[in-house]
Amino acid sequence: MALVSAKEMLEKAHEGHYAVGAFNINNLEWTKSILMAAQEANSPVMLGVSEGAGKYMCGFKTVVAMVKEVHDFLGITVPVALHLDHGSYEGAKACIEAGFTSVMFDGSHYDFEENKAKSKEMIELAHSKGISIECEVGGIGGEEDGVTSMGEVADPKECEEIANLGVDFLAAGIGNIHGKYPENWAGLNFDVLAEIQKVTNGKPLVLHGGSGIPSDQIAKAISLGVSKINVNTELQLVFADATRKYIEAGKDLEGKGYDPRKLLKPGADAMKEKVIAMMKEFGSYGKA
Ligand code: 13P
Repeated sequence: MALVSAKEMLEKAHEGHYAVGAFNINNLEWTKSILMAAQEANSPVMLGVSEGAGKYMCGFKTVVAMVKEVHDFLGITVPVALHLDHGSYEGAKACIEAGFTSVMFDGSHYDFEENKAKSKEMIELAHSKGISIECEVGGIGGEEDGVTSMGEVADPKECEEIANLGVDFLAAGIGNIHGKYPENWAGLNFDVLAEIQKVTNGKPLVLHGGSGIPSDQIAKAISLGVSKINVNTELQLVFADATRKYIEAGKDLEGKGYDPRKLLKPGADAMKEKVIAMMKEFGSYGKA
């Protein structure tokens, strides 16, 4: 199966009360580990690409080519969407051109009327190409790729207006934060989440900052309409940890342990296991 729009997989997830993981990729190892995990777990999956990661991987066209070829080479049969994460106005247009099957337009830093106008334009453009689209209301806390937001709890009224534009799935700030959660984190705001789901008429909702949220809060968020959970930091941590252990154990100095295919393997294996574990936690395991 070719790469697909995320609309159908997220609507199915919403109906089935589970969430699809959107895991950020950084390079070949990330792409391979996540796709292999999804196949083994028989789970739908989204590959998220931030604009910074897109640049790192030598541009969106390179990303599309790499993901398509890796996907075909590995014989992946579960539904896979290639999704731009936190796209700017220009970035979203570039990804639609380049062949992404899903984009996020994040206009949350504009004032609401401008966010709404730009979101509307981008929704029409994405839909004219058969691509799914996510928009955002209210900032997500923390820092990602140099974009810092203090985090904001979204205004349900604004969520309703963006939902009415025909967006496929909606990211709304509910106290979630990118990166590691601080000790004194207040947790997700479920009252606002419930209100947002009510006024958006059952639109699939997106939870950013999916690394490090306790399982009971993940389950509750899913029960209140979250159908897509974004994960980036968690895979970076498990990759770094496994790689550090390999080097600290001196394995890179044994035989040809310095061969990159050996050096990067513990990290790649750890990411694959983590993705499978998260697919079980999110309930998408076995749902392809
Ligand atoms: P984490 O890095 O906290 O997992 O957040 C990922 C994310 O929300 C990507 O948009």
